[in-house]
Amino acid sequence: MDRNIKTVLLSEEEIHNRVAELGKQITQRYVGEDIVCIGVLKGCFIFMADLVRCIDLPAAIDFMVISSYGNGTSSGDITVKKDLSRSIEGKHVLIVEDILDSGHTLTFLKQYLAARNPASIEVAVLLNKPSRRQYPVTAEYIGFEIENEFVVGYGLDYAELYRNLPYIGILAPEAYAS
Ligand code: PRP
Repeated sequence: MDRNIKTVLLSEEEIHNRVAELGKQITQRYVGEDIVCIGVLKGCFIFMADLVRCIDLPAAIDFMVISSYGNGTSSGDITVKKDLSRSIEGKHVLIVEDILDSGHTLTFLKQYLAARNPASIEVAVLLNKPSRRQYPVTAEYIGFEIENEFVVGYGLDYAELYRNLPYIGILAPEAYAS
């Protein structure tokens, strides 16, 4: 285990099993339909790759990059750095995010995409931190509800590191204390 990880919160196996369940749920929800999966980079990249392989539907894949500015948290204004490459008008959209925290990103994104008249918008998140919510938004498909811990791995970073850990770990305080 990485020496900066205090505890493994979710093992590879737990994540693998839960992602497969989410994929089945999503497949059943949209049976007979096509979907567009929209990943929000960078945090989504591993979850998205695993999830879409558990969805048994015709699925187009697209990505967005968005940034928040402000007081160092995600409560500032949001800017779209990379937009979709195709129209989503009339399509069933599934937003794929690694973590739902304050809800600011998702609130922005749902409004932003709704303006393009998709047939529907639903959201899949691997991790949900309900105790951190500042905006009244939720996801239809949630991998795990977690406490307010500093989690990294499986796509989630601290200072751009740890995204490649195959599990979700809690970062040791000495790894981010300066
Ligand atoms: C994270 C995560 C979500 C957002 C959630 O992205 O991927 O997009 O924060 O936080 P919120 O609910 O408070 O808006 P981050 O800005 O860390 O970028 P990254 O995906 O590149 O790691």
